[in-house]
Amino acid sequence: MNDAQNTVETAAAGRAPLPFVQRTPLIAGNWKMNLDHLQAIALVQKLSWSLKDARHDYTDVEVAVFPPFTDLRSVQTLLTADKLPIVLGAQDLSPEAAGAFTGDISAAMLAKLGVQYALVGHSERRQGHAEGDELVGAKAAAAHGAGIVPMICVGETAADLEEHGPAAIPLAQMLAAVAQLPEGAEFVVAYEPVWAIGSGQAASAEQAEAVAASLREALRDVVGDDRAAATRILYGGSVSSQNIAGFMSQPNVDGALVGGASLKSDEFSRIIQFRKHVTGA
Ligand code: 13P
Repeated sequence: MNDAQNTVETAAAGRAPLPFVQRTPLIAGNWKMNLDHLQAIALVQKLSWSLKDARHDYTDVEVAVFPPFTDLRSVQTLLTADKLPIVLGAQDLSPEAAGAFTGDISAAMLAKLGVQYALVGHSERRQGHAEGDELVGAKAAAAHGAGIVPMICVGETAADLEEHGPAAIPLAQMLAAVAQLPEGAEFVVAYEPVWAIGSGQAASAEQAEAVAASLREALRDVVGDDRAAATRILYGGSVSSQNIAGFMSQPNVDGALVGGASLKSDEFSRIIQFRKHVTGA
């Protein structure tokens, strides 16, 4: 544990504990720019069969997939036809409502497709598309305005980690986005250290817990204790069936945002069934 973490934990130490709220774990698959609409249908079908075989209870662990825009309609049709309680998410959205914004997709269009979550501020958009905190917050607000729950992605790069410790950048990114949401708005936070994404080098469960605890503590000041206690904070970055149980055993980690491992139905199904794994394995 480094100094930055110590500071946050010491600051939190004097406060009253949060009210107890049962948070439903959420396992979300971010497919990124993978799978065309036919491959998408095949994957969701296989995933649903695997979860059916395992008698998965979707009210016990919520399951969401975030396909590319071009797959959303096909996946929605499948989910509706087969009455599958898998939740549909979008990987991005426009902060604008409608108009001359070539190539962009609005929150209302996504809501019409049954999309319930939208990622905002994924590090691949912050880095590859120069998205800053202001834009990320505007996207979160646009999602909320259409009845979509924004999943605010935050995380430090390896250089940030060296310079500021693990929590400072994620905290600043989260607070900037939440500041643009109206009071009472529901949101999810996904803590994804950039150095852990796609690297095979996941954070340790303890590292993820330390940052998640700091994020929740900071939320108390801006959204109040009840909302801070109810908000789900996910970990993302090289999550696999081998390490999920360790993350899920942490008190402040409420789920996972899974990239590569969500593209394989068997592996994603095993991750969803984390309760069956030996804790800490
Ligand atoms: P990986 O699981 O492939 O590391 O990706 C994580 C991620 O970026 C999910 O949004």
